[in-house]
Amino acid sequence: LQEELVAALDECGAAGLGYGPVEGLPTLKATIAGRLAQRRVIASPEQVLVVSGATQGIALIAQSLIEPGDEVAVESPTYIGALQTFAAAGARLIGVPVDGKGVRVDLLESVLSRRRIRLLFLQPTHHNPTGTTVPPERREQLLAPSWRYGVPIVEDDAYGELWHEPPDPFPLKASDRHELVIHLSTFSKTVAPGLRVGYVAGPAALVRRLALAKQFSDLNTSALSQLALARFLAAGEYERHLHLVRAIYALRWATMLAALSGLANIDVSPHSKGGFYLWCRLDGALNARQIVAAAARRGVTLIAGEAFFPPGSGAPGDSHRWIRLSFSSASPEAIVEGIARLAVVLRRQPISIPASQIEGTQPLV
Ligand SMILES: Cc1ncc(COP(=O)(O)O)c(C=O)c1O
Repeated sequence: LQEELVAALDECGAAGLGYGPVEGLPTLKATIAGRLAQRRVIASPEQVLVVSGATQGIALIAQSLIEPGDEVAVESPTYIGALQTFAAAGARLIGVPVDGKGVRVDLLESVLSRRRIRLLFLQPTHHNPTGTTVPPERREQLLAPSWRYGVPIVEDDAYGELWHEPPDPFPLKASDRHELVIHLSTFSKTVAPGLRVGYVAGPAALVRRLALAKQFSDLNTSALSQLALARFLAAGEYERHLHLVRAIYALRWATMLAALSGLANIDVSPHSKGGFYLWCRLDGALNARQIVAAAARRGVTLIAGEAFFPPGSGAPGDSHRWIRLSFSSASPEAIVEGIARLAVVLRRQPISIPASQIEGTQPLV
């Protein structure tokens, strides 16, 4: 990536440091469209908008399609950033419970038939926080109510290419026959979040509308980041990199699963086959917030699951018992050590770790 950044500057000079087209660099858009086609998503470069991270994609979609007070249906639980962004746009969030195969289609059907849902936000593949991937047979069922009631789906595919075990699922958009799926993804999880490059693929009219909103948001996504990424992709480095990181994450995922398997008072949701997270339920006697605070004192960072449930709707009675563990940035050794420390917290026994080992170090998990 460093080489591609330098080469991009050598090749493009001032153009790499200037403003770029609001929709994104044509070379990158064409490359993204080509990659999507390999994953059975048919989108022309005009149907692709480069955005400054999926976060901006969600914000532009919210700004363009949502009026304050509109209802947006989301999986319960779902990605915190989406909850915050839709709430900031004035949306009322309606949570639809999930099971081990993703969002419950019967409940989705009932929500769409009874309410005036304006937009549906879903992560069908390697969901954050649960790790769940909607199996092929449920994908068609999931699309049917959206088609029937004409409700667009935002498919956030941030982790779609990061599977630990094949088969690699195609995006939901690959099965969309009515142009109701707006596909959203990012290079943050596969390459680097600091690049701030993501993309939206959807109907050309919508992409033009989002581009207008983007113009007032940030003019364009960093041309230098886009140039470097376009070169990274064209040189085949992206494929090689994906291959490498998939193996690294698969090892971390398996290490964390194995480390957790010996613990009595925590249940790991068994549905994760990709992404960065394990979604776990604590023993009835344990409260996630207290565990999070106690773990932080031992240098272990995790997130209390409550934050992932839309406020006031769809949160199950046991939402205070869930935690999300991330294995993306810790080495296998750090994961083993981190889970060992968590085990001590869960057993509520004091732990004696020299302060020198904790202070100034990165949190372990
Ligand atoms: C599901 C999901 N969508 C979007 C994002 C944000 O990605 P970006 O860095 O591209 O804004 C994240 C980051 O955690 C995420 O988990």
